[in-house]
Amino acid sequence: MSDSQIEAPALGVLHSRHSSKWRRFPVDVLPMHVAEMDFQIADGIKDRLIKMVSESDLGYTGPVPEVAQSFEGFAKDRWNWNIDRSQLKLVTDVGVGVVEFLRANGASNGKVIINSPVYHGFWEWLGELNIEPVDVPLESNYDLDLDGIEREFAAGVKFLLLCNPQNPVGKAFSRAQLTELAKIAKKHDAIVISDEIHAPLTYEDHEFTPYLNCGSDAESTGICVTSSSKSWNHAGLKAGFVLTQSAQMQAKANLMPQATHWRSSLLGAFAMVEAYSNGTDWLDNTVKVLDDNRKFLKSELKKRFPEVTFDLPDAGYLAWLNVGVWNLGKDTVSHLVTNGRVSLVPGNDHGPEYTDFVRLNFGTSQEHISEGLARIAKALG
Ligand SMILES: Cc1ncc(COP(=O)(O)O)c(C=O)c1O
Repeated sequence: MSDSQIEAPALGVLHSRHSSKWRRFPVDVLPMHVAEMDFQIADGIKDRLIKMVSESDLGYTGPVPEVAQSFEGFAKDRWNWNIDRSQLKLVTDVGVGVVEFLRANGASNGKVIINSPVYHGFWEWLGELNIEPVDVPLESNYDLDLDGIEREFAAGVKFLLLCNPQNPVGKAFSRAQLTELAKIAKKHDAIVISDEIHAPLTYEDHEFTPYLNCGSDAESTGICVTSSSKSWNHAGLKAGFVLTQSAQMQAKANLMPQATHWRSSLLGAFAMVEAYSNGTDWLDNTVKVLDDNRKFLKSELKKRFPEVTFDLPDAGYLAWLNVGVWNLGKDTVSHLVTNGRVSLVPGNDHGPEYTDFVRLNFGTSQEHISEGLARIAKALG
């Protein structure tokens, strides 16, 4: 299969994969929960990994300046963003980057703002550090509630963990909102940690804006944490990076232990290099497939479950579905697994009050999406 053919293998083949997605449930359950795609990875990444393995090139991760070089080209080309190469630091993955940054900067046992509904990992990462999440929910159009955020900064909360584009709703926040957020953060001497892992998967009809590309207030208050692992589908390789764009934020990133670099994987680091430097054809073709999928899902939902609401995401392959009319509440996902043999993510993993929602992964073939919807219909009887 080449980079121009983005296809998901048949279910029989997928079930032989070793990742959590394919091992969590018995083989008769169709997994549509965890955020990984079913497509084959880009040829360049595959070839690079095969070469490294065949040459026993599997040692510890030393300096890999190629990551900053390749991301610099990608960021300039995609987002007209001029990064400062010297301020990029490798970390094990995005979760470790966020947790270690917060830990090193004295956030443990304190408070951090998040904006629900938001990726369940955020709740878990803050829990690791005994941090109290201060939820300032997204507005009904999924914009940030900037007044609410400012109130919390004014009350003394010093960090905001931003998800841009947002998981699970797929919102890519506007430059105007991010610029205003930066102004507010600057005014209150707060820090914005911007998780941008879904950014390369932004659809053509929307624009992704990196937080650090929103002017000097953003540069002096922000840190970007990201990886190619989500968009190029290599989460198991364990590598990510943090990036700053000012002396003061670089000094804060430098407080993280050296070990966060050493704990990243050499294979993962070079997968990132390959993704950012040679993986754009694969990426663009994947985004086209996902674009067809999100529209297909929308029209199938309209036909089969007109009672369910779903707003097309601006980015990514996750669908945030309001299924409240099914009246299954917290039991929705277990009901679907038991009675339909299909697994989704419970809405309340993204914030306790979202029991009316489920998250569905459409990073697969339309055949599997149809199969998933048929199983849901069966479960609902
Ligand atoms: C917003 C977001 N951040 C981070 C992650 C996980 O990244 P990592 O495995 O690099 O910690 C995910 C995974 O789904 C995610 O959606």
